Amino acid sequence: MQHPSPARMYDALLGGSHNFAVDRMAAEMAIKLVPDLPRLALSNRAFLRRAVRFMVEAGIRQFVDIGSGIPTAGNVHEIVHELDPEARVLYIDIDPVAVVHSRTILSGNEQAGAIEADLREPEALLAAVGETGLIGFTQPVGLLLIAVLHLVADEDDPAGKVAALRAAVTPDSYIAISHLSSESRPEDAGKLGTHSVNETKVGIHFRDKAAITEMFQGWDMVDPGVVELPSWRPESERDQHEQPGRSLGLAGVARKG
Ligand SMILES: C[S@@+](CC[C@H](N)C(=O)[O-])C[C@H]1O[C@@H](n2cnc3c(N)ncnc32)[C@H](O)[C@@H]1O
Repeated sequence: MQHPSPARMYDALLGGSHNFAVDRMAAEMAIKLVPDLPRLALSNRAFLRRAVRFMVEAGIRQFVDIGSGIPTAGNVHEIVHELDPEARVLYIDIDPVAVVHSRTILSGNEQAGAIEADLREPEALLAAVGETGLIGFTQPVGLLLIAVLHLVADEDDPAGKVAALRAAVTPDSYIAISHLSSESRPEDAGKLGTHSVNETKVGIHFRDKAAITEMFQGWDMVDPGVVELPSWRPESERDQHEQPGRSLGLAGVARKG
């Protein structure tokens, strides 16, 4: 039997149907360790929605969603196309299953596409983005790195990968990052980190606020900076999936000046 995958476990946490028994079991075990985990997943999706809407309002008309995962309610192209049907969205994931599902739901949609690429190899990833013809690097881009950088180990230099992406985009481009954090609940972060290594063989790298803020080096932070997921520009009560001060995720948005 294969190992659970981060993409399918996350899908299971969100109540999706693109996962196997092995993924559901691993997700259930993680929920036993940290019961509010499904709320964290919802909180992360709500941040994604707010960050994308913010970027569209700031003038961004092309989005590259790296580590996009298995399509679920409130996909980036749906959020974007509600506001501008002509805007373009490219989904990227290292997991071929996530890419196949994305292509299936995008069939017939000329404004959106999906490719397989590895964030840890930004030059190859950027070349693959260029080959799609969907995204033009002479115009500002909205980069989305939502719940993916904590799957990149320190030795793979996650901040360096963000810097390589920054170098490739024009001024007035934006980046949104959300990241699992050990800041508010180090014990729960430790339990989940160990569980993820045992189960998925991938490992989740919970980082503190300083390390996550470091990933935005060279970008101009948008207010309110790097904060807990529900605290990034909440729009209504519906964005408050988690208790204040207890989110296991930090997030921020920044602009290239
Ligand atoms: C937890 S899911 C997040 C999905 C979506 N971004 C969200 O926040 O709702 C993380 C995704 O990142 C993908 N991923 C992990 N490492 C990656 C890498 N090096 N390059 C690209 N994608 C990666 C996984 O396959 C998974 O689909």
